[in-house]
Amino acid sequence: MSPISNGQDRQLTVGIDIGSANITCAVGSVIPDSNRVKLLGIGLTPSRGFRKGSIIHRNQLIEQLEKALLEAETMANTKVNNAILSVTGDHIRCLNTQAAVALNRNRTNGFPGDRTIIETDIDQVLNLAQAISLPPDRDILHTLPQEYLVDTLQEISNPVGLTGRRLEGRVHLVTAAASAMKNLVECVEELGIKVDGLVFQPLASATATLKDDEMQLGVTLVEIGASTTNIAVYHGGAVRHSAVLPIGAASLTNDIAVMLQISIEEAENIKIKYASAKASLSSPKLEFDLPAENSELSRSISEHELSRYVEARMQEIFQLVINEISRADIKESLTYGMVLTGGGAQLRNISVLAGDLLDMRIRIGTPNYIDGTADVADLPIHATAMGLMLWPIRADDYTQSSHISIKTFFQKLIQPIKDFF
Ligand SMILES: Nc1ncnc2c1ncn2[C@@H]1O[C@H](COP(=O)(O)OP(=O)(O)OP(=O)(O)O)[C@@H](O)[C@H]1O
Ligand SMILES: [Mg+2]
Repeated sequence: MSPISNGQDRQLTVGIDIGSANITCAVGSVIPDSNRVKLLGIGLTPSRGFRKGSIIHRNQLIEQLEKALLEAETMANTKVNNAILSVTGDHIRCLNTQAAVALNRNRTNGFPGDRTIIETDIDQVLNLAQAISLPPDRDILHTLPQEYLVDTLQEISNPVGLTGRRLEGRVHLVTAAASAMKNLVECVEELGIKVDGLVFQPLASATATLKDDEMQLGVTLVEIGASTTNIAVYHGGAVRHSAVLPIGAASLTNDIAVMLQISIEEAENIKIKYASAKASLSSPKLEFDLPAENSELSRSISEHELSRYVEARMQEIFQLVINEISRADIKESLTYGMVLTGGGAQLRNISVLAGDLLDMRIRIGTPNYIDGTADVADLPIHATAMGLMLWPIRADDYTQSSHISIKTFFQKLIQPIKDFF
């Protein structure tokens, strides 16, 4: 094996997506003067010691992390020093807040009057909007500007240069358990990797898969992982609501294992090979044999019957997703409906089922803005890892109303974690 170069000559960007089923490490280089990344290497390993966004066995997790990292480093022929991590779990909460500052005091003479808005005013508004009272074990993970209001003018994405007496900022805040973030960062740092930032999973997937038009006119990103389903609702170019449901595609496997009395591993293989999210699209005549021990009689089941269990569970998941979308409290309809990512989005006919249930446009989200070995990256299951790589260069695109540069943005989101060290 050739020695690993340290990649100093390129601007590397690395994403590590730690899930309950899979760990994906993606190494890319930023393509100069573009908002795109060239994929150099990808490492994939089954995950161990991690469930529903929490570490349940630290050493097992570190072992698997190291494998994924080494695989990606070898493929990219470079050493990884820094990375951005995904974060999810039912400890994550979101809320919309707002804050306002008075502009009607002229700085030179102290008299009331209109004043032109400058960057510092925006920083001040965003800082105030973040000043919510949080329990001691929680920290702000993201502060995503939604819109600004200058006096009676609304829906302003960038108020710099406008004149007024009052500037209001509305933001979407994502908060997370400090200990969950700290533990995750420490696992990765144990491998000598400096963590540059943590990104809430659906925001990373959205960065890789959504187009600006979709975020503007309204879309819900639904990332169906193994043990979690992550949701981000976009409208007006910004996040309006986000949530984590503690259920995912592994529930389908469990259901199949229980119903057919087979092992989880066998059920997983059967799910991937034969299951469909829409039972009516699977033939009752197409039967397959179930795994049997030597002494057992051979059994068979139709794809249609198998898919009935799967459809019932997926309906339940989509019902929970609908409940979350209604919490977004958006008056206009979401023109672009829903984009599905994550391993669960690879289930056969899932978009047909979602379309029937939700009566909206549905598409499967495959990562965009990635060059190079795009066929490897071109799957919904890799959307989060690709989004993490793209985050430093594209995140300020989808939060185009933001005036926090990506550097200070990262400083802000990593600061609460550093405070613990
Ligand atoms: N073709 C397929 N059909 C059905 N399910 C699939 C398919 N491919 C992958 N999956 C399911 O996707 C899940 C893995 O997806 P993913 O890697 O996104 O999860 P994860 O990120 O590890 O989990 P989480 O984010 O919830 O912790 C598994 O439950 C797997 O069974
Ligand atoms: Mg995941």
